[in-house]
Amino acid sequence: MRVGVLTGGGDCPGLNAVIRGIVRKGVQEYGYEFTGFRDGWRGPLDDDTLRLDIPAVRGILPRGGTILGSSRTNPLKSEDGVRRIRETLAAHGVDALIVIGGEDTLGVAAQLSDTHGIPCVGVPKTIDNDLSATDYTFGFDTAVGIATEAIDRLHTTAESHMRVLVCEVMGRHAGWIALHSGLAGGANVILIPEQRFDVDQVCAWVTSRFKASYAPIVVVAEGAMPKDGDLVLKDGTLDSFGHVRLSGVGEWLAKEIERRTGKEARTTVLGHVQRGGTPSAFDRWLATRFGLHAIEAVRDGDYGTMVALRGTDIVRVPISEATAQLKTVRPELYDEAGVFFG
Ligand code: F6P
Repeated sequence: MRVGVLTGGGDCPGLNAVIRGIVRKGVQEYGYEFTGFRDGWRGPLDDDTLRLDIPAVRGILPRGGTILGSSRTNPLKSEDGVRRIRETLAAHGVDALIVIGGEDTLGVAAQLSDTHGIPCVGVPKTIDNDLSATDYTFGFDTAVGIATEAIDRLHTTAESHMRVLVCEVMGRHAGWIALHSGLAGGANVILIPEQRFDVDQVCAWVTSRFKASYAPIVVVAEGAMPKDGDLVLKDGTLDSFGHVRLSGVGEWLAKEIERRTGKEARTTVLGHVQRGGTPSAFDRWLATRFGLHAIEAVRDGDYGTMVALRGTDIVRVPISEATAQLKTVRPELYDEAGVFFG
């Protein structure tokens, strides 16, 4: 048995831990051989491969990024994509493919498996934690830890200058990182894409915080949008995924807060710092277990499935279940945090 492995979409801490888990168990317990494909779906499309064996995965557990490289290439967008993938797999004698990715990468795996009969097993990844069918994706815990540390640090500098500090975190469609890091870091306002925010309300919270002699911290997800439709139309841009977004919402909000409250405000955009570097212990644990269970699914010929975390158990679900709909923050979870606003 020869198994292909690829990592697609935005990278995330823990990808190497998954690859190591797959290869270690596959070689040691089942005697399988592996072919690594470079840069997500681009690898099988362009027949770009990489040696993947025990020496190749030695020492990679704590390393961020992915030894296989990643891209957002979508093979279903080119007419002969499926044919080229089939030819590459046949040329290398690859019997099954383990696809480690988020919504887009796994969406392709679901179609290749369900419609074209190409045997795929999925592993969910994203720092955004917005994939359905799994309680958590690896990478999320690391990102929340990084954002929480940043918020802790922002508190002390905000207090010293009695300024508003706005911290923009990742999350295009879902506010999981903002909500978790905002709660963990004691933010005074948390803004998420799932609920449009009222700038006047944000300013009222900020002002009440100053009245209590504290400097406010506002955590805003990059995909959060103000209620005011006109502003969005004027400043909204299309991001690299084709979604309308208020570009630089953190910067924009800090300016609005200054203008409306007269208080000094600054913005910190955490950006890709949240995605880079070594994974947390939780993410190493989760990613390793996903890898071990993914190769088991291959052994069982359980194609079209994805490994998922339910409680502390790893289960298998149809890949399409994870990609059909994004997992967003439920209103009651967000409301729960509201007690700390202002
Ligand atoms: O991986 C998800 C994510 O981190 C989003 O939160 C973010 O908007 C996006 O990727 C940015 O990705 P890139 O800069 O690689 O296009």
